[in-house]
Amino acid sequence: MASGSRPAGTGLFITIEGPDGSGKTTQAERLAAWLAARDVPVHLTREPGGTWLGERLREVLLARTAEGSTPTDALTDALLFNAARRQIVREVIRPALAAGTTVVCARYADSTLAYQGYGAGVSLDRLRTLADFATDGLVPDFTVLLDVPAAEALARKAPDEVTRFESEFDAGFHQRVRAGFLAMAAAEPDRFVVVDATRPIETVTAGVVTSLEWRLGPGDERSEPSPPRVRINT
Ligand code: TYD
Repeated sequence: MASGSRPAGTGLFITIEGPDGSGKTTQAERLAAWLAARDVPVHLTREPGGTWLGERLREVLLARTAEGSTPTDALTDALLFNAARRQIVREVIRPALAAGTTVVCARYADSTLAYQGYGAGVSLDRLRTLADFATDGLVPDFTVLLDVPAAEALARKAPDEVTRFESEFDAGFHQRVRAGFLAMAAAEPDRFVVVDATRPIETVTAGVVTSLEWRLGPGDERSEPSPPRVRINT
């Protein structure tokens, strides 16, 4: 598979984004299995996490704020998410891509723009600079946005799966997160595909893999007419 702007032979960097409860983990697993079944070497991971440090930072970032303590500043959150991100990029993602392995990652830098930027109000320009700094400019080749209304997504979560971002931020925050994801997808139609994640799991996976196939095409043998580069599944 081609990998966008990186040298030939490198793996493809695919990210799965979306609000809490949109099914990213399930769809990332299903996409990775679909790729593996087609003999594409694939590494499945997630953010925050994927490394020893990242999993420790995940515990810190997702834990509910202790009774009586000051809520964490949103830029502090962004710095910590980007610390975890730098570690996974350096330790896992770049080496895998360089070895020709496709990486499927549930959440990446777009999540910080959506949550700490659109949601919590940190300057988008500062967050973009921070992500560029943390990742040495590594941008996904293909990003799937699993779109689902905020209230529906939150209702899907079991009480013990609820993170600080779900429990301590109001409905308006989650609506801004969703709108932010959609705005980013509209601004970068060559990278993003938006998939309606309110549908059954199998239908969503079919939308994801069809979009990926269309985006990549069958390579040099691609015959005309080629499919649209971006398909918005509604
Ligand atoms: P996640 O495991 O992705 O939860 P879910 O399955 O609910 O999507 O939890 C990560 C949480 O951290 C989620 O609430 C979103 C938040 N988050 C940010 O606020 N900024 C970030 O940069 C990232 C990666 C996640």
